[in-house]
Amino acid sequence: MLHFDTISADIVKVPVLRNIQAELPPGSIIAVVGCNGAGKTTLLRAIMGFVKLRSGRILFDGTDLASVPAHNRTRLGIGYAPQERVMFPSLTVEENLRLPCQVSGFKKAAVDERLSMTLEVVPQLKDMLARSCAALSGGQGKIAALGRALMIGTRLVLLDEPFQGLAPALANQYSEALKRLQQTQPQLCILVTESNASLLKDVPDRTLHIERGALLPEQPKAPSRPDQPFSSLSLEAYS
Ligand SMILES: Nc1ncnc2c1ncn2[C@@H]1O[C@H](COP(=O)(O)OP(=O)(O)OP(=O)(O)O)[C@@H](O)[C@H]1O
Ligand SMILES: [Mg+2]
Repeated sequence: MLHFDTISADIVKVPVLRNIQAELPPGSIIAVVGCNGAGKTTLLRAIMGFVKLRSGRILFDGTDLASVPAHNRTRLGIGYAPQERVMFPSLTVEENLRLPCQVSGFKKAAVDERLSMTLEVVPQLKDMLARSCAALSGGQGKIAALGRALMIGTRLVLLDEPFQGLAPALANQYSEALKRLQQTQPQLCILVTESNASLLKDVPDRTLHIERGALLPEQPKAPSRPDQPFSSLSLEAYS
């Protein structure tokens, strides 16, 4: 579904993504975890076409995304909830949700259908539809941004640090929504970033770790017992 074929990217001539290789299958929730400045947002922005690659290719169902201009990538069924969750404050939540589908030329019936699917997955949005986006709290804004990404993201959904700053109750609602999404749309691939892996709990099927723009090798689970039990360590050196 999504294949990073040895991608590298620079921002103002500084390497920010380095030789990233990974295959993201459909029907999976993949987390990309790394500390601040590791390159998580840049990776998502590269998929959306907002960051130019220096080398490598991003293949989406076998198509090199370099051949698809950034403004057309959502039409492939890619939904994106950016870290700063830009919603139009002068529009209602419903208008914000409908917007990406309308811009992509969906007929009204198709937009209505996407909206009812989104409300099934994220029922909390029902009570927010008529509200102005300017009146949402930070957490409600994140839920609305998830809804907007789902409206257009029929194949791939990119969520940039969605759990950061969410109160525990909202975080639970958010992860339940992702699990419902996986059940209702089993072919969808969901890519979610976080700097704090513990916020993701059991949401991801697989976690990739990014450090200074490079993916770390995936490790099998560490053995629960150390190779050398502490009790057998020699204390002679300290005597
Ligand atoms: N517009 C920019 N101008 C200069 N450097 C940038 C810009 N955007 C990102 N960078 C640099 O690229 C690197 C990766 O940034 P990125 O935003 O992708 O990290 P991140 O993992 O998303 O971090 P965070 O957890 O803080 O969101 C950082 O070193 C950052 O300073
Ligand atoms: Mg970021």
